[in-house]
Amino acid sequence: MRTVNKVTAAVAGVAALVFSLGACSSSDDNTTPAASGTGSESAAATEAEVFTWWADGSEKAGLDALVAVFDTQHPNVKFVNAAVSGGGGSNAKPVLASRLASNDPPDSFQAHAGAELTDYINAGQVQDVSNLYDEFGLNDAFPADLISRLTVDGKIYSIPSNIHRANVTWANVALLKEAGLPTDAAAYESYTTDQWITALQQVKDKTGKTPLSVGGPWTQVQLLENVLIADLGADGYNGLWDGSTDWAGSDVTAALKNYEKLLSFTNEDRDGLDWAEPIASVESGDAAFNVMGDWAEAQFEADGKVLNTDYLAFPTPGTNGVFDFLADSFTLPVGAPHPDGAKAWLETIGSVDGQKAFNKAKGSIPARTDVDTSDFSEYQQTAIKSFANDTIVSSLAHGAAAPAAVLSDITDAISKFSAGSSSVEELQAALVTATKG
Ligand code: GAL
Repeated sequence: MRTVNKVTAAVAGVAALVFSLGACSSSDDNTTPAASGTGSESAAATEAEVFTWWADGSEKAGLDALVAVFDTQHPNVKFVNAAVSGGGGSNAKPVLASRLASNDPPDSFQAHAGAELTDYINAGQVQDVSNLYDEFGLNDAFPADLISRLTVDGKIYSIPSNIHRANVTWANVALLKEAGLPTDAAAYESYTTDQWITALQQVKDKTGKTPLSVGGPWTQVQLLENVLIADLGADGYNGLWDGSTDWAGSDVTAALKNYEKLLSFTNEDRDGLDWAEPIASVESGDAAFNVMGDWAEAQFEADGKVLNTDYLAFPTPGTNGVFDFLADSFTLPVGAPHPDGAKAWLETIGSVDGQKAFNKAKGSIPARTDVDTSDFSEYQQTAIKSFANDTIVSSLAHGAAAPAAVLSDITDAISKFSAGSSSVEELQAALVTATKG
């Protein structure tokens, strides 16, 4: 008998929603009403303490680009950076949880659209900001289905800054060549997981380099979610979150066996790493492939690497035609000490200028549909096209698919598996437990 899935209530229908994205390439004419600020905060100088995990490298560069727009739009509001480093919020989320628990919220914090945000809403930790959608003219600015992922009982509790893709595989062109593998991204679009495993073996045999780099637990969860999408298909993967796919089923077992094989081709020091080091090893040619979200694109660009010359980016083998989605979205916490500062920050987040500057630097695409993206990178053009045309699924590792408690239990199971303390059978049993009510 199929168990009732613990995530179903929280995210019913979420994963199966299909976005209808309007054209992403119209002009900048439609700026927010207050490109230079509403002035609502100008009577008295205030501040906005903003909590993110964009503390290093290309992620900090993205935040800096956003802050530059904020400073222009709201010169009277001091930006206070409360970022806690650690990709995927691995360190930040526990710090935030303890701040919220002790009634010490920042003025705004980063959360993921979907199940993670629903957690904060259910806990009564964030305020309804629907009035700001009216005030800033945001109701038609975002795709309707993104708004529906942010809405609970008719209220909207955050303003999205961006859309990232989590099913991207990055590869080093020179090392692929040395291994005798194709050096054009298109060749990998039709690959299955099995064909990819054969290619990984070829990298190992012919070059002795790391076939697939990966980092610590959250990056392994992201690798797992990619394999589940590849092997179960978008519908089967969505079914894991709405209860229609059985976590105990034989198709999940087969996917986990593939996950085990993929892990066997990875660097042994994986558990202590974040995302940037494994991407750096693809950049340097120490590793051939890495699966990571497209914040990695910003790092390749920052390091002066050229797409299709130095590195490739393509949908993870088996996931072509699927866009594994996550969106960062900013909140107004209950009890925020500087609500005027928070409001100013949220205005910048939702503005055309803020979304343009931030996403160009971050590797993501604007959540707004009316930002001129003609000067965005070649990679970002592929993401824009895929988001408009492909099937959208929700990222597990980045809070869109499952509540925090479920993700935390899955992450523990994945850590144990990486440490060699559990078998595929035990991993599957742990995943069943993690997701059942
Ligand atoms: C995600 C977040 C991205 C990026 C990434 C790596 O959870 O949504 O914006 O920061 O983590 O840290």
